[in-house]
Amino acid sequence: MGNILDTCMKRNKGGEFKYRDGRRYDVNFDPLVPGLDKKKLVYPLPNDEDEMDRLDIQHYMLRYAYQGNYCAPVTDLLTKRGARILDAGCGSGIWAMEMAQDFPQALVTGIDISPVQPRGQKPPNVDFQTVDLTKLPLPFADGTFDFVKMRFLILGIKAEQWTEIIRELARVTKKGGYLEVCEPSLAVHEDQKVMQEIMGMVAPLVAARGVDTQIATKLKSHLANCDLLSNVRETSRVIPYRRFPEDEGLDRLSQLVRQDAIMAQAAMKPVFVMRGMPEEQFDDQIRRATEEMAVSKGGMRSHVVWGMRI
Ligand SMILES: C[S@@+](CC[C@H](N)C(=O)[O-])C[C@H]1O[C@@H](n2cnc3c(N)ncnc32)[C@H](O)[C@@H]1O
Repeated sequence: MGNILDTCMKRNKGGEFKYRDGRRYDVNFDPLVPGLDKKKLVYPLPNDEDEMDRLDIQHYMLRYAYQGNYCAPVTDLLTKRGARILDAGCGSGIWAMEMAQDFPQALVTGIDISPVQPRGQKPPNVDFQTVDLTKLPLPFADGTFDFVKMRFLILGIKAEQWTEIIRELARVTKKGGYLEVCEPSLAVHEDQKVMQEIMGMVAPLVAARGVDTQIATKLKSHLANCDLLSNVRETSRVIPYRRFPEDEGLDRLSQLVRQDAIMAQAAMKPVFVMRGMPEEQFDDQIRRATEEMAVSKGGMRSHVVWGMRI
């Protein structure tokens, strides 16, 4: 395990990164609370291979839970030649690449603050750009995309930025096209005592970074209040944490959600250790949270909200 204070900057052909305690971060990552330095990122998670694996696991989990890659009624729109799709905050790029494969006539653009998506091995109709979603306006003309999707940006956007970012994503959506946003709830079931302890530390920490930990339940009003959108709809899913020995499919799904939740907590380790928590204590908490999840009655709730551009 590397020295937690041993931060180094490395250059890579994709961009600049920062390394802490064996994890790789965006160059503007700040493990402490970003202060007045506006260049520092709100987002507290790494962007290395382990994190890309977690995002892929999360993607398969959500695709199964929602039985597809989107909820908005966009299939006909996206089947047209030259249809355009935007994935805002695309992470590993897996959603964008699957959409490119499913809609070979469409052109898919994935944007993210970190240049970590495949630049070589990818479908020819997908392209990735390094764009900071919080620096508006986005580099796209009004009405560029038939479908705009943003998923799990809860930790990357400050509470006061949601209204303007939703409106900006609506601005770049074509009239008659759709904007769809998906976010998780960070609520923890009462039988998850260890996870409650962890979230008791994580929630104030991310709130201090400006994050709205309740954004999932406010998405519908954000879209409904946007003057560029109408026909706003919402659906949600709870993916259970416990084991399902009697059902192979559910057991596999719950294994994915447990893996995702534990890997996400583990990804916060450098942030906690920098703030003084002994490593052994952190590792022990993660181990106990893992055991507890396998028998919990709780689950991960997420909300999907979509609206049509008018
Ligand atoms: C939890 S991941 C979700 C990735 C993807 N949407 C998915 O569902 O698999 C959040 C992503 O948002 C990106 N992100 C955070 N802050 C950002 C910003 N200001 N601008 C653009 N992307 C940002 C991170 O780099 C990360 O890839």
